[in-house]
Amino acid sequence: MRTISILVLGTALAVGPASARQQSDDVPPEVVASRHAAQTFGSMLKDTLQQAIQSGGPVNGIAVCREKAAQIATDLGQKQEMLIGRTSLKLRNPDNAPDNWELAVLKQFEARKAQGDPVDKLEFFAVIEDDQGKKTFRYMKAIPTAGLCLSCHGENIDPAVDAKLKELYPNDKARGFKEGELRGAFTIDKPLP
Ligand code: HEC
Repeated sequence: MRTISILVLGTALAVGPASARQQSDDVPPEVVASRHAAQTFGSMLKDTLQQAIQSGGPVNGIAVCREKAAQIATDLGQKQEMLIGRTSLKLRNPDNAPDNWELAVLKQFEARKAQGDPVDKLEFFAVIEDDQGKKTFRYMKAIPTAGLCLSCHGENIDPAVDAKLKELYPNDKARGFKEGELRGAFTIDKPLP
């Protein structure tokens, strides 16, 4: 179990969510690397999904979100010595469930969105120290629901896709999203020396 004490990085936690959105100048190198990794992961996923759907329809795309996503995340993470994943308040795969820290950040993102912050700008980071004094840099970046996502996460899902999703994910909660809603977040852990 993590979440013991939180050391402040930048102004993220010191002054709370209202100013966390202005974490742009003078950020630590971990933040720059995380932003880059989240952006790369996101665009690689979108490209891979788009190609799979174009060549074999949305049922074909399921394998991308199911297997390729994790593979891309592992490859990217190894290069940067980071653990990269995806999580959400409404899960399709329970293996992607948020831990306590991630849950709090996802709720913070929903609250900031409700206050009018643009979803594609939502990010948060901190350094977490466990009871052995081991420090981990943690970063999250919101994932907006794009039009491309609706065929598998939207309200009207094609019967063939619906059937496949039900077979693979009997407890699927990741449906009924509208474009622009918060689908979830990229989440990054980097152990610090
Ligand atoms: C072709 C179907 C399909 C499309 C299109 C799709 N997804 Fe998914 N998505 C899935 C599947 C299947 C999973 C479960 C992956 C797994 O088993 O880890 C998933 C999981 C996720 C997760 C991880 C959290 C969870 O619920 O398990 C996120 C975040 C996510 N998708 C976001 C998106 C976004 C954003 C888009 C659009 C850019 C998108 N997806 C498009 C099928 C799809």
